[in-house]
Amino acid sequence: MKVIDGNMHKYMKLLVYGCQMNVSDAERMAGELAAIGYEQTDSMEDADLILINTCCVRETAEDHVYGKIGEIKHLKQKNPQLIFGITGCMAQKEAGNLIKRAPHIDFVLGTNKVHELAQVVREIEAEHGHVVDTAEGETKLPDGGPVQRSGRLSAWVPIMYGCNNFCSYCIVPYVRGRERSRQPEDIVKEVEEAVAQGYKEVTLLGQNVNSYGKDHKRADFADLLKLVDAVPGIERVRFMTSHPKDLSDKVIAAIRDGKHLCEHIHLPVQYGSNKILKAMNRVYTVESYKDLVRRIRREIPNVALTTDLIVGFPGETDDDFRQMLDFLKEIRYDSAYTFIYSKRSGTPAATMENQVDDQLKHERLNHLMAVQNQISAEINEALKGTVQEIMVEGPSKNDDAIWNGRTRTNKLVLFPHNGEEPGDFIHVKITQPQTWVLKGERV
Ligand code: SAH
Ligand code: SF4
Ligand code: F3S
Repeated sequence: MKVIDGNMHKYMKLLVYGCQMNVSDAERMAGELAAIGYEQTDSMEDADLILINTCCVRETAEDHVYGKIGEIKHLKQKNPQLIFGITGCMAQKEAGNLIKRAPHIDFVLGTNKVHELAQVVREIEAEHGHVVDTAEGETKLPDGGPVQRSGRLSAWVPIMYGCNNFCSYCIVPYVRGRERSRQPEDIVKEVEEAVAQGYKEVTLLGQNVNSYGKDHKRADFADLLKLVDAVPGIERVRFMTSHPKDLSDKVIAAIRDGKHLCEHIHLPVQYGSNKILKAMNRVYTVESYKDLVRRIRREIPNVALTTDLIVGFPGETDDDFRQMLDFLKEIRYDSAYTFIYSKRSGTPAATMENQVDDQLKHERLNHLMAVQNQISAEINEALKGTVQEIMVEGPSKNDDAIWNGRTRTNKLVLFPHNGEEPGDFIHVKITQPQTWVLKGERV
């Protein structure tokens, strides 16, 4: 708390782990807290309120959060008035156990409780007790509330919450509940408001956007894409994630015909052998996935495809792994996020036999990454000499004279800055493609 010009200022610091859905939730939490007088600060020491929006998709994600919880203990000792809360997926999973383990936590709020945050913080400001609320059942969507967005050009827009898929390795359906879609007009309104505030790009978010609207049946995902594409002033529309089991031809046609719908599909395959896909409960096969990719590439020839891959799933043999490498060489993704299987208790895979040895998991991960990096580098090399349209974002991390932007296919492009502003659309000739970035010059 600080007094500036006779006014009291309260500060909040939000730490966010996990996926884009968590980033988006945190933007709504920041909006809620701003409405009761909290301003954002970068400094943990200055904060009157620290919130960790947590992830539990892998054990490493949880370890990071426990590390942070430990670090915050001494801040709380220095400033007993500090309010410290845990939200997000780990809050949902661990609930009251978190406070038992770390009594310096003031409140734990589940994934369904974003809209209660301000009320809970007010209660704690007044009484300084503990609050734990991770009750399931109530499914109020954080619709229409204030949002304090983290980006200036690109806005995250959740279109649905939860997941019904129960992939056998995954904790998300247990901590995020069943699928609930927002109404199409609420989504369009949010996109219109973002455009009015100067945003040029939106990313529509859901654990599986293809099942959008299956609950309310007022619009399906393809309908929604068309509605968002038609919002005046929107320049680029992205979306994630698409489950390969139900990406419809109607969605493919919508992307093909849409003006602002970007030619990039994140289409996580997770694995490249039928035996493992079946054990993962992914519902599709290697063959049906390849057929889907053929249809996508036929309709949208310049599409970029990216994926998520898991090595070390229980029962994975050398033969499965070889099939996975062959699969990658055949599909040729633009890039891939690669993960080591992490046992999540409560999921079916956690009790499967033949868990893979840690060292083997690491060896396979390294092998997989080497194969994929080679493919990414080759695909980017083929872009040498081409001219790409990019949306300018701002200075690159290491050098203010070099700025970056992204292609519609979501590739990062670096170029020498010469007066461009963030949000400009410019053309860049690619001169030096690399595995992760394309370097070029404005034309
Ligand atoms: N709903 C999205 C993303 C969910 S989580 C989808 O289905 O694609 C993001 C990624 O984390 C998943 O795609 C998967 O590759 C990975 N993941 C999920 N659970 C995991 C686990 N137990 N161990 C390792 N990686 C996991
Ligand atoms: Fe997890 Fe599967 Fe749902 Fe994705 S689709 S969130 S991997 S259960
Ligand atoms: Fe993590 Fe929850 Fe997202 S577990 S990946 S933050 S849905």
